[in-house]
Amino acid sequence: MARTYVFTQHGGPENQTFLDLPKPDPGPGQLLVAVRAAGVNPADWKQRAGFRRATETLDSPVPLGREISGVVEALGEGVEGYSVGDEVYGTVAGGGGYAEYALLSTDAIARKPASVSFLDAATLGVAGATAFDAIAELDPQPGETLVVIGAGGGVGIAAAQIAIARGAKVIGTASASKAGLVESVGAVHVPYGDGVVDRVRAAAPDGVAAIFDLVGGDALTELAGLVEDKTRIRTAADPTTATELGGGPVTRARNSAVLEAVGRLVEDGTLKPFVTEVFPLDKAGDALALVESGHATGKVVLEVS
Ligand SMILES: NC(=O)c1ccc[n+]([C@@H]2O[C@H](COP(=O)([O-])OP(=O)(O)OC[C@H]3O[C@@H](n4cnc5c(N)ncnc54)[C@H](OP(=O)(O)O)[C@@H]3O)[C@@H](O)[C@H]2O)c1
Repeated sequence: MARTYVFTQHGGPENQTFLDLPKPDPGPGQLLVAVRAAGVNPADWKQRAGFRRATETLDSPVPLGREISGVVEALGEGVEGYSVGDEVYGTVAGGGGYAEYALLSTDAIARKPASVSFLDAATLGVAGATAFDAIAELDPQPGETLVVIGAGGGVGIAAAQIAIARGAKVIGTASASKAGLVESVGAVHVPYGDGVVDRVRAAAPDGVAAIFDLVGGDALTELAGLVEDKTRIRTAADPTTATELGGGPVTRARNSAVLEAVGRLVEDGTLKPFVTEVFPLDKAGDALALVESGHATGKVVLEVS
């Protein structure tokens, strides 16, 4: 059996519970992975809250969690290039992330570099890969200024580092409590709230070339006017607003090549995942509540085994 944190119906956190479910069976092209660590993402509570009702039917109970690291325990039909005992990470194709066992698929998995911890690797399937995809799409050039809205969270702090490594100047909006974190990666911290547009303008004397948004709504709308070419506005948080402004959602690659590339960035020291809170699997509800607060710092991760 596999201890698994699930939600049973759409709504609030009261619908979350632990269940002992059968160990998932890897189908063709899938690997059964004993989970060592799992990243906690806003998408997890959004799915539980029913934000995806329009596109996803509820197949209760629904295991929570979508990015993990762990050790391969069994191979499904047709899986080549991996063996039992391999250390891997990726996005969950079945089973659970907040669970003892998950299924990964060969098209969204990568081998964990030995120097990268399971905790760090667990942040790469969703947060790291989204940051990578966004910076690839926005393609900030050396010397150009990129504004990251929500730079102190899991995706934002990764995106800031990847853009800076390419030579871009990054201005990161975040609450005052995250100034030290944002500046530690070489970005300019700008607190959000009244006057944020003037503060960003002052910090970007050569203008803002692009925005990567992790917050949406007014936080995006008020800063969008600073970008001349609105097609260089990308969001992971609010596709509707970004599209209305002339930009759009980040295009996700969701493949193993991106996962491997992000892993190499961690391995060579370009990208630090900033795991700031680690909870045991038993405290999965507390971990998700922290992310659901909307003000997490860096990444919140569950240590499963
Ligand atoms: N489409 C995709 O594939 C994809 C993938 C990953 C994430 N996402 C989405 O992207 C968003 C961010 O994800 P995440 O994992 O980075 O979330 P997160 O770790 O919770 O970070 C969000 C950050 O935004 C900050 N924030 C809140 N209000 C703000 C404001 N008005 N201005 C600037 N910063 C503000 C928060 O802290 P402070 O308020 O303390 O600064 C927090 O650090 C979520 O909506 C998530 O669902 C989408």
